[in-house]
Amino acid sequence: MKNSRLVSLPSLREAARRNPDTVLPRERAEIRPTAFLVSWGQEKLFCIRTYGCQANVRDSEILRLFLLQLGMKETEDVSNADFILFNTCAIRENAENHLYGELGRIKASVLKNKAFVAVCGCVMQEEKPVQYLLEHFSFVSLLFGTNNIERFYDLLERALKGRGTYVDIQSQPSSLVELSSRGKEGRLSPYSAFVDITYGCDNFCTYCIVPYTRGRERSRAMEDIVAEVQCLKDNGYRQVTLLGQNVDSYGLDKDNKHAFAELLEKVAKTGIDRIRFTTPYPSDFNAQVFDVMAKYDNIMPSLHLPMQSGSDAILKRMNRRYTRAEFLDIVKLLRTKIPDVFLTTDIIVAFPGETEEDFQKTLSLVKECQFDGAFTFLFSPRPGTPASRMEDKTSAKEKHDRFDRLKNLVDKLSTKSARKMVGTRVKVLFEEVSKKDESMISGYDEHGKLVHVKGDKDLLGRIEEVDILESHTYSLIGKIHGQG
Ligand code: SAH
Ligand code: SF4
Ligand code: F3S
Repeated sequence: MKNSRLVSLPSLREAARRNPDTVLPRERAEIRPTAFLVSWGQEKLFCIRTYGCQANVRDSEILRLFLLQLGMKETEDVSNADFILFNTCAIRENAENHLYGELGRIKASVLKNKAFVAVCGCVMQEEKPVQYLLEHFSFVSLLFGTNNIERFYDLLERALKGRGTYVDIQSQPSSLVELSSRGKEGRLSPYSAFVDITYGCDNFCTYCIVPYTRGRERSRAMEDIVAEVQCLKDNGYRQVTLLGQNVDSYGLDKDNKHAFAELLEKVAKTGIDRIRFTTPYPSDFNAQVFDVMAKYDNIMPSLHLPMQSGSDAILKRMNRRYTRAEFLDIVKLLRTKIPDVFLTTDIIVAFPGETEEDFQKTLSLVKECQFDGAFTFLFSPRPGTPASRMEDKTSAKEKHDRFDRLKNLVDKLSTKSARKMVGTRVKVLFEEVSKKDESMISGYDEHGKLVHVKGDKDLLGRIEEVDILESHTYSLIGKIHGQG
């Protein structure tokens, strides 16, 4: 601790403060490194480890661009890297523990190579982990958070020029930074891109750390988003995924109730081949969004709609602003407007106070909705959130038993959903060579299902018709239509 330089430490209380009257000032920024950083970076190897959701993946791409601009080269091998960055996730306890495990494992090689280690992302916005890192991993040179990644060059230079760990974590975002380079630079895929539309979250679901780690909800200007999509399309991108913790509340900070539908329509009109978005909040949806989805072929017929629980009592304690009946109504409306839609969801098992009866309601709502897939999570108490202070009497055995029962049901539904695809023809955007078998190329169909075909690298970046031959729980096997 005595060696660290603490410019600013995180405060959950400060992060929770919201001023609903203020729309953050928009700031255009061309971010260029100093000569000092360029000479430091030349030919050095960097490695970025990213945990968590797509918001972190996108942030890592921006940081990746900053590092590439220093003349650095990327490596996958942590033990060989001169610069290692961990972009962390705080959503569940195991995500956090994973970070400590990784840091422990790399310590010897970091000390041997005199590598520079930086940690950023959601875990850094929390109070205790930052203290823990300073106490146990003093070889880390720089800690920063989610609200100051645009200041990365300045932070890096200060860290390099001094001794000890440099810590600068801002609990509040101060402006909405529009980087001049929003095209293909720094992006991990040349075909498919994440495009931020909102940052942060104002929902404060009682279990969730995100409103504290990502700050208040703020929306990018529509013209900036559309320009980014256009630029991606002009650079050969085939797909964009619009990102936000709650995409359908886009523009609500500017009091525009229909902004998400308007935005979606404008993005569709760019003519880019494929548009997806994640994650919508069930009760913020309006029929207009479904109408736009139905009207444009380039908006993919798939939706990830987090349900969390099927019990009204639990939904209320989670501070979710919908009931079971309302959730079901939204699903029904969606299926009426877009009959071929594939629907996936998130569910939390064993929220504090969940009874067997509540859990049965979750099982029955899952059956009623006939999801095509679902992510299931055991409730993980996050320090500082209201749910972490709620009484929890359910035994660990009971929790795991519920988790297994739900997982069983969800897997059955996924298998059934995959099976009904056998014999159909889908369109697949091919994105990567299969990790398990180099002769297989993988991509996603319109519904977001993973599809593998035999083929070579020429397929990458192409959208092809595929006949589905075989199904597994999480993927499909097919062959390119018209080929032997
Ligand atoms: N903004 C998105 C994503 C949030 S995080 C949304 O609202 O859907 C992704 C999922 O993680 C959530 O949907 C929820 O199911 C799960 N999750 C969040 N906090 C959790 C916690 N404390 N314990 C277990 N699961 C959690
Ligand atoms: Fe977390 Fe709820 Fe916001 Fe999703 S909507 S990020 S679950 S607070
Ligand atoms: Fe994790 Fe932060 Fe995303 S907590 S899920 S990386 S917003």
